[in-house]
Amino acid sequence: MTGCDDAALRELVRANPGQATFEEYALARDTICALAPCAILIFGVGRDTAVWSAANSGGDTRFLEDDERWIAEARHHHPEATIERVRYHTVRALAALSMRFPSLRRITGLPPDVHDGAWDVVLVDGPRGTRWHTPGRVASIAAAARFVRPGGFVLVHDCHRLVESRAADHFLGREHRVTQVGSMRKYAAPAHAAPITGVSDP
Ligand SMILES: C[S@@+](CC[C@H](N)C(=O)[O-])C[C@H]1O[C@@H](n2cnc3c(N)ncnc32)[C@H](O)[C@@H]1O
Repeated sequence: MTGCDDAALRELVRANPGQATFEEYALARDTICALAPCAILIFGVGRDTAVWSAANSGGDTRFLEDDERWIAEARHHHPEATIERVRYHTVRALAALSMRFPSLRRITGLPPDVHDGAWDVVLVDGPRGTRWHTPGRVASIAAAARFVRPGGFVLVHDCHRLVESRAADHFLGREHRVTQVGSMRKYAAPAHAAPITGVSDP
């Protein structure tokens, strides 16, 4: 069994109810396996953490997470995973303002090598984004648009939600949508880096 077989995903879906479907995970897994070994950045940890590391065997797989409880859980089950604690400085209720003002999209705690254009694949499945008074995903989606290398791919989960759907089209470009399976949407980063309107964080 390798990290690109269906068996690991089927087990994940069985053990992790209420998260992505098999088909949604498979879209991300297939994107990774087509490029592996490569550099993958993932916003959000969970019971899926080991699956992404296995799919990118021999590559660099990095996780960014804001919730200490989930960091502890992921480190307990996957001590080999590289997880960085980050902080967001806005809440989902301010999504519209966060789209306009870069200062609201700040993410602190990023390691220095998490920088623009450095990642082949970026998967956005965090922060949780389900409550109005906790961080939404405008900041992580905008950051993903910067961090992906030209010609790479960004996957955004939960695009059935308005905040994720709008922020993803705004920062990644609706014209760069490759496909959507369930609520997992895949974007291609332009082959030649071009400034994306509204994401020029200071
Ligand atoms: C949608 S969850 C990420 C789920 C994860 N990618 C998965 O497939 O299991 C977004 C955030 O919620 C928290 N989280 C992780 N797994 C969770 C779970 N099974 N149930 C509830 N929250 C979870 C973490 O803080 C994570 O960054």
